[in-house]
Amino acid sequence: MTAIPSAEACSSGVSAEQALINQWYSSHAGNYDALMNGRHELRHARETLMGLLDIREGYKVVEVSVGTGKNFPHYKKARAEVVGVDITSNMLDVAMRKARKLDLAGVVLMEGDGRRLPFRESSFDVGVLTYALSAIPDNLQALSETARVVRPGGRIGILDFYHSSKNVEGGVAGIGLLALVHQSGLQVVHNKSFINPRETRMPGRQGIYVLEVR
Ligand SMILES: C[S@@+](CC[C@H](N)C(=O)[O-])C[C@H]1O[C@@H](n2cnc3c(N)ncnc32)[C@H](O)[C@@H]1O
Repeated sequence: MTAIPSAEACSSGVSAEQALINQWYSSHAGNYDALMNGRHELRHARETLMGLLDIREGYKVVEVSVGTGKNFPHYKKARAEVVGVDITSNMLDVAMRKARKLDLAGVVLMEGDGRRLPFRESSFDVGVLTYALSAIPDNLQALSETARVVRPGGRIGILDFYHSSKNVEGGVAGIGLLALVHQSGLQVVHNKSFINPRETRMPGRQGIYVLEVR
């Protein structure tokens, strides 16, 4: 398990919007897992995406905006090699502790910006973005970057809210998830909706997309 500190991603040219996001996740890193664990809809959707992605032993996975490493148990089960990137060091600290606790050997954590990934084209078999696109300003750029570093025939798994409001807690998706996937031009392999009509706020309206890179 390796942690790679920030190169330059977090220090220079950070927009006001991104600075606000960094601040929010920095101060909520300690209770992020408790917030997520409390919602059955979120847990169920995450498990469904991981099932659909079908990550196999030896696969190289890049998780953009890895946060506190909520998907780590799935990677452990699959015996995948994982590189997790996130812009917030406090979130990565929690992820590092989780990786140690799970004895997750094949994981590298890096501080960096999902819109500028420091990897060559086609470096990975799978890209994962769970609740990431709603948190990254210019999320189409982050999705395009993920597609760039995943090999042709590889897959990208997305789980997110359909629409998020323009605030930090709600994310900054700006455009809806559907439009974002459409604009990416990537091939949709699986698409699943989780709409709870009794829950009109964010957790009740989520979508999963598994996309293929061509
Ligand atoms: C809602 S959390 C999702 C964490 C994790 N993917 C999960 O499934 O629980 C959003 C994450 O996006 C990260 N983030 C925000 N902007 C980013 C950027 N430009 N590049 C990389 N990560 C970013 C935040 O630091 C935070 O950890």
